[in-house]
Amino acid sequence: MYKDLRQFIKALEATGDLVRIRAEVDWDEEIGGIIEEALRRDQPALLFENIKDHQRTHGRKLLTNTQLGLFRRVLMAWGLSENTHPLEALRILKERCRQRVKPVVVSKGSCKEVIETGDKVNLLEFPSPKWHARDGGRYIHTWGAIVTRDPDSGWINAGLQRGQVHGKDRMTIGFIEKSHALMHAAKYLAKGGKSMPVAVVLGAPPLVPYVACAPFPAGVDEFDVVGAIQQEPLEVIKCETSDLVVPAHSEIILEGELLLDPSTFIPEGPFGEYPGTYLGLDKVMRRVLQVKCVTHRQDPILHGLMEGLGPHVSPARDFPYLETIGLWQNLEDLGIPGIKGVYPGDSLGAGHPIIIVSIDNMYYGHARHVATALWSVHGKELQSKIVIVVDSDVDITDKNAVLNAVAQRLRPMEGITIFPGTIGGALDPSIVPEIREMTGGSGRWDRVLIDATWPIEWKPRPEWGGQKHPIYCNASKELLEQVRRRWQEYGLK
Ligand SMILES: Cc1cc2nc3c(=O)[nH]c(=O)nc-3n(C[C@H](O)[C@H](O)[C@H](O)COP(=O)(O)O)c2cc1C
Repeated sequence: MYKDLRQFIKALEATGDLVRIRAEVDWDEEIGGIIEEALRRDQPALLFENIKDHQRTHGRKLLTNTQLGLFRRVLMAWGLSENTHPLEALRILKERCRQRVKPVVVSKGSCKEVIETGDKVNLLEFPSPKWHARDGGRYIHTWGAIVTRDPDSGWINAGLQRGQVHGKDRMTIGFIEKSHALMHAAKYLAKGGKSMPVAVVLGAPPLVPYVACAPFPAGVDEFDVVGAIQQEPLEVIKCETSDLVVPAHSEIILEGELLLDPSTFIPEGPFGEYPGTYLGLDKVMRRVLQVKCVTHRQDPILHGLMEGLGPHVSPARDFPYLETIGLWQNLEDLGIPGIKGVYPGDSLGAGHPIIIVSIDNMYYGHARHVATALWSVHGKELQSKIVIVVDSDVDITDKNAVLNAVAQRLRPMEGITIFPGTIGGALDPSIVPEIREMTGGSGRWDRVLIDATWPIEWKPRPEWGGQKHPIYCNASKELLEQVRRRWQEYGLK
């Protein structure tokens, strides 16, 4: 497991999974354009080292494109071997997540190599990109963690919410209202507080952002989950200006006070959202983080994620958001048998409208049971507008295989079930503004199950070789293994 971003960069470079871009590029849109094209061309991670206006600033480098494209880069960030099948990777993480490991507090960390307070604080020293033309500004935080503490229980939460720069010492954080950080904020407000300590972790150890953006339940300390997945405690270090702790080997930490009085909120955005669209071109009033202290490594590296791709840019692999692990656990916890895997069927997102589940079909209505269970879990509103259930012989990480199963096994009259009028993903472009307004901003989804499993009630038939469905003509597993063993002998690559 990589202790910090630099070890990760070194490993990516060693496997040819990273390119250093030494030509000058503009933080203003050009980097966003490069990423779009890089994804179309299946390029490696990109480390920009010569960014306009940032050749002599404290922060000069920006790492991107580690999360999309080849799944190997994600496996590396998760500390798994590069040959792990994506579904097996999710299964391993699902099991590990259940055994939490507490972090250890250390007294020395590379994030403290430089400490700047007061007048020295300057967010403009870092090469924050403006990803898209109509974005409202530069986003310093798109792939790290926002750390807060529950003032009563001491629970430390790490979430992932975007941060826009608004001058030397001010940024906004784009929290959705049900963020755990805002649960903490409500407690500060109830005690008469006007602000809350927040730490923004930039250039975190590579696993941290994946965990921060996965919605673990209230009370779960995400640093314990990081420890669980990496199977050793995360090293954390105390902040300079608050009792928060942050990953000690991060590139940059911004410490500040989040202003809670609505009269202090300022306009933020617009921002190219995860479906690849703008929710609207108007700005939205957001909470301000008044930054009091910046600590960082020498020559720190910012790590960003350009969301906002849409159907026009299709990364080789969908973003394997850890949310699908949560859904998989939910199905198991509800006692639904035969679940072989849960995988997103659409690209990058804080929500996955399409969720694909593979099952060993065991009883009449099994697929409907899966779909209704997915639609019943509280807090998972952003997932599963469309649930596709397939048999376990279909590789659900391969979209073509899933489409073929739908083509061959779906009988629409029986296999399509629509469940109308549920809460929906607010950012989904299919939601008309009037409905969004009517639902108080949450959106409304009519959800659909596409059951592409062979019907369990069919009888075995002699013409199907005694099976309950037509049989396939493909080579046996044994033959394929033999062929793979001899592959090079055949003179094939
Ligand atoms: C790439 C990505 C970007 C996200 N951006 C935001 C954001 O800007 N604001 C937000 O409230 N949630 C955002 N989310 C969702 C939160 O990270 C997610 O709900 C997380 O669970 C929040 O942490 P919490 O559960 O500890 O509150 C994003 C998720 C992903 C995967």
